[in-house]
Amino acid sequence: MMQMAHEDIDVERVRRDFPILGTSMNGKPLVYLDSAATSQKPIQVIDAISNYYKEYNANIHRGIYQISERATSEYIESKEKLAKFINAGEMAEIVYTRNATESINVVALTWGNENVGKGDHILISDMEHHSNIVPWMLLAERKGATLDYIKLDGAKAELDPKNLEEQLAKKPKIVAITQASNVLGTINDIKGITKMAHDVGAKVLVDGAQSAPHMAVDVKDIDCDFFVLSGHKMLGPTGIGALYGKREILEATEPLFSGGDMIRSVRHNEHAWNDLPWKFEAGTSDIAGGIGLSAAIDYLNGVGMDRVRDHEKKLVRYAIERLSQVGGVRIFGLGQDGVDRRCGVVSFKLDGIHPHDVAQIFDSEGIAIRAGHHCAMPLVTETLGEGALSRISFYIYNTESEVDAAIAAIETVRRIFKV
Ligand SMILES: Cc1ncc(COP(=O)(O)O)c(C=O)c1O
Repeated sequence: MMQMAHEDIDVERVRRDFPILGTSMNGKPLVYLDSAATSQKPIQVIDAISNYYKEYNANIHRGIYQISERATSEYIESKEKLAKFINAGEMAEIVYTRNATESINVVALTWGNENVGKGDHILISDMEHHSNIVPWMLLAERKGATLDYIKLDGAKAELDPKNLEEQLAKKPKIVAITQASNVLGTINDIKGITKMAHDVGAKVLVDGAQSAPHMAVDVKDIDCDFFVLSGHKMLGPTGIGALYGKREILEATEPLFSGGDMIRSVRHNEHAWNDLPWKFEAGTSDIAGGIGLSAAIDYLNGVGMDRVRDHEKKLVRYAIERLSQVGGVRIFGLGQDGVDRRCGVVSFKLDGIHPHDVAQIFDSEGIAIRAGHHCAMPLVTETLGEGALSRISFYIYNTESEVDAAIAAIETVRRIFKV
């Protein structure tokens, strides 16, 4: 697709690229409002993966024959594209993993094990996904360190700036924080937080699972030390994710896994690591995944990340407006005046009705939404005091009429439950 800056996305044209959007669920046309869980895949990505297997399937790096050389160069090109996509300095700073979760685990188990010790502090926030909580909790347990949480403000929508300062005064070794919350939708001022964290000597890991797919990301500008993302949330296949790390940090860090590919030489009693990023990729890589992710990045670049963001803002604004008109609905996160600081996620609760019942009735209407704690139990259960929430989330292929369909489904829920 050609880039057309400042124009709206041609959603109907985009939708034609996504075969699944032409299917039905429970006999109704599929309305997919769960892209924060995983995005749908355009035909360009599906074809790129299938063409690799059909035309040049071979292992990478050492094959001295044409199809292996092609697979190798496509895989490397994928990393080069991703480096550019998030404005990393070089491909060497892009380590492929299975997903954002694995990327965070790699940092906690390598850099964390080497640099966090007894009595140290690790700082995360009250709006983290379990993926950005549990690896740090386990690191703290292993090392006798303390895990601290930046609290939310009174409106329970954003981080409390005063508490952020108080937590940073403890001089944590690392601040691991999400750029965009998968529950509240809040987009954190990650650049400001990184600066504050660096001022007290902390390293910073940014969880970009919900930001990289939906907005332009610039890791150099943020100046974070690590940035993680999942390919499957940004039009790519499952099984491929990335860890960005600043070169000097990755160079100074021992790899987690060892074996083939990550090694330059092995003697009976000695070894030498391979260059970055291969040092962190032991064994055969997810070659098809890398090639699929490459096609996904091409697709997003073709649309233009500024237009992706604008489109989702419009949908969020519309969804909040429509949801606020329905009786008995509570919306979580920032309101209409905070849409600029909100990603394409809207969590809500229908008073007196369990979110699982809501999701089930949506399902019978052909609408896919998520219900539950959204893998953010400390936030949903403890801070918000809710057992579960319903969540709709958007991407480039969603439309206002799909929001209307969701609102109609809520009316159906209310009729059935007589509330
Ligand atoms: C904010 C956030 N971080 C991390 C993850 C984990 O992503 P994955 O399961 O692809 O590793 C998710 C998934 O929903 C998320 O929303």
